Amino acid sequence: MHVDDAIRSRKSVRRFLPTPVPASTVHHILQVSAHAPSGNNVQPWRVYAVAGEPRQRLCDAIVQAATTDADRHQPEYAYYPTQWVEPYLDRRRRCGFGLYATLGIARDDAAARERQMLRNYVFFDAPVGLLVTLDRRLNTGSFMDLGMFIQNIMVAARAQGLHTCAQAAFAWFHKIVREQLPLSEHEILACGIALGHEDLAAPENAFITERAKPEEFAHFAGFEVAP
Ligand SMILES: Cc1cc2nc3c(=O)[nH]c(=O)nc-3n(C[C@H](O)[C@H](O)[C@H](O)COP(=O)(O)O)c2cc1C
Repeated sequence: MHVDDAIRSRKSVRRFLPTPVPASTVHHILQVSAHAPSGNNVQPWRVYAVAGEPRQRLCDAIVQAATTDADRHQPEYAYYPTQWVEPYLDRRRRCGFGLYATLGIARDDAAARERQMLRNYVFFDAPVGLLVTLDRRLNTGSFMDLGMFIQNIMVAARAQGLHTCAQAAFAWFHKIVREQLPLSEHEILACGIALGHEDLAAPENAFITERAKPEEFAHFAGFEVAP
């Protein structure tokens, strides 16, 4: 697969088939992904891969927490701003509304939106869940390193015919994750990643997000010919 095709065909899949993914495939994806660059080659990431019974136990515990006392759970880092500004506010809305529209969920149907949100905590039915952590003793720059590693996982998964969904939703429930997996006190739970085979019949997987063009976000200077 050409790297452009791997990058372009990556999308957030939110309904997976139950088809298992062997440990050897997950291991291969992680081995490839670990070639990500990082400042001073510190490789600040750790990954917890869960399948089968441990995956089920983790999902059950988080769904229970998310449906009973979600307010008690907070992430250890701020992913989103408290005050949204344009153009991000509009993009965020288009992303949310677009997903709910493909699912036939009305904007004011809070119960259906909540049900969809809770599907995060079953890894959207993916047979494999990855929990990605970052050592908190490092600094903000290491989040860049972690992002490159996470992107590598999602792109390398495409080369195996697999799909993914990055899931910051798990960051809220790091206390529950710590009860089930051996995270050290130094680790921040950055996100989860659902990994598996796309359910091609699922409407939510047909939702394709838009992108701004380079003309909108890039500035060219000093080239003899315009791009
Ligand atoms: C770090 C990160 C965390 C994300 N967390 C979630 C999440 O918790 N739940 C979810 O459904 N999508 C999540 N997403 C997916 C984004 O909504 C998605 O990447 C974006 O809308 C662009 O769509 P695409 O991935 O299909 O290209 C996350 C993406 C990233 C990069």
